[in-house]
Amino acid sequence: MADTQLNHIINKVENEKKIFANKSAFDTSNPPSKIISRVNEVGKIVGYILDYKQQQVVPLVSIYGRSGTGKSTLLKYVCDYIPEVKLCFTNLRKAKTVFGTINLILNQLDQPSLTSAQGMNLGLEKIRETILNTMKSKNKKLFVLALDEFDVIFYDKRGNPSDFVYKLVEMVAELKEKCCLAMIFTISNNILSDYDLDDRVRSRIGNSEIFFKPYTQEETLKILQQRSEEAFGKKIDDKVLKECARFSYLEHGDARRAVDLLRVSAEIAAKENKEISVEHIKSASKQLQKDRLGEVISSLSYHSKVITLVLAVKTYGLDDEWHTTKSIFDSYPKYLDAEPVGYRRFSELLNDLENSGLLVSKTGSKGHKGYKSEYSLVVDPEIVGELIDKEWWNENVVKPKANFDEADSLGVTSGPLFDLYKQVKKHRQSQW
Ligand SMILES: Nc1ncnc2c1ncn2[C@@H]1O[C@H](COP(=O)(O)OP(=O)(O)O)[C@@H](O)[C@H]1O
Ligand SMILES: [Mg+2]
Repeated sequence: MADTQLNHIINKVENEKKIFANKSAFDTSNPPSKIISRVNEVGKIVGYILDYKQQQVVPLVSIYGRSGTGKSTLLKYVCDYIPEVKLCFTNLRKAKTVFGTINLILNQLDQPSLTSAQGMNLGLEKIRETILNTMKSKNKKLFVLALDEFDVIFYDKRGNPSDFVYKLVEMVAELKEKCCLAMIFTISNNILSDYDLDDRVRSRIGNSEIFFKPYTQEETLKILQQRSEEAFGKKIDDKVLKECARFSYLEHGDARRAVDLLRVSAEIAAKENKEISVEHIKSASKQLQKDRLGEVISSLSYHSKVITLVLAVKTYGLDDEWHTTKSIFDSYPKYLDAEPVGYRRFSELLNDLENSGLLVSKTGSKGHKGYKSEYSLVVDPEIVGELIDKEWWNENVVKPKANFDEADSLGVTSGPLFDLYKQVKKHRQSQW
């Protein structure tokens, strides 16, 4: 590469970056400079924490709600603000296992890790000892142990997450006997009763819960306004931010993804050397959906991939959103390069796909064998088709559908076009 060419690239990239006065304002791993709304939720967190003044805190509070609703940010914000609180914040995604969590807590408290041979009980003892020492030396009134992404340890099939939670709660009780107040906040996507905790633990942890609702359009707009002023160093067209908030509200109510959407839109605008516009939000939304979907789809098994493709074909080709288990099952062998799975297994796979967030189901009309389940893709079928096999999708779905739609719109009832119409219609019905 010649120097002039490199120079050209450097200039171009520099120019693209000029749109941002401070791009780190779009980095969602940084805490926001200002918290928007969430007065109720903050009130509840504060309520549980300030019980320390009566020496009577509950041992465990569960914060739950969908991702990007401000759970981690707000708990940190409140705990950091109240000087009497010592916060130990851990993200269990980094730990993965029960024993990993013990080490994570120890490391957060400036202690070395243990080896798994030393066992969970010794680990818990070390944690308790460290908390006692820390609280004595720091002159704090309440120790808060935050277990963020709490869901993760329930995938640890070798450890015993339920027992671990029980022992943590026991530890909190023992600390109290030593006049050291402590409490645990778990943060998860779902309500705790969805997780595999045994009754002994359930009765012990009680039901102190705080639910975080997805953000409304207005709340998302405020979060975006504040971030964008910092990032661009100037006010940008409110129409653009409103569109971004609307997209986010309709799709997820997730503040993190809303900020990402604005950032990617700005990057696309910068590449085109234009002011950010509503069109850029649309392209960015497509881009982000594609990225996310690509990750999900590439992790699917072969059969699940084919089932997803069948639904994409039916949804797109037939302009029909809902499809019964049987109709999907009947079509699926046509797309398969292997032995089909049985009906029961097929239903399980549909269920797994629903859990992965690609589909939703509803109980449809009553057939002669009882109520039928129907499924619908929640993502754009075109994006699914293109991700799985773009060439195949264009040849076998997009083109025939265009033919059909064209013939249909002509409303022909005779002549050579009518033959084409009949042919495509037949294809559409038999194929899809
Ligand atoms: N009320 C809020 N005000 C300002 N920024 C927020 C607010 N809620 C969330 N955010 C921002 O959105 C992103 C996601 O929030 P986070 O607390 O990580 O959500 P959760 O833990 O529920 O997944 C973070 O970058 C955070 O700064
Ligand atoms: Mg979080």
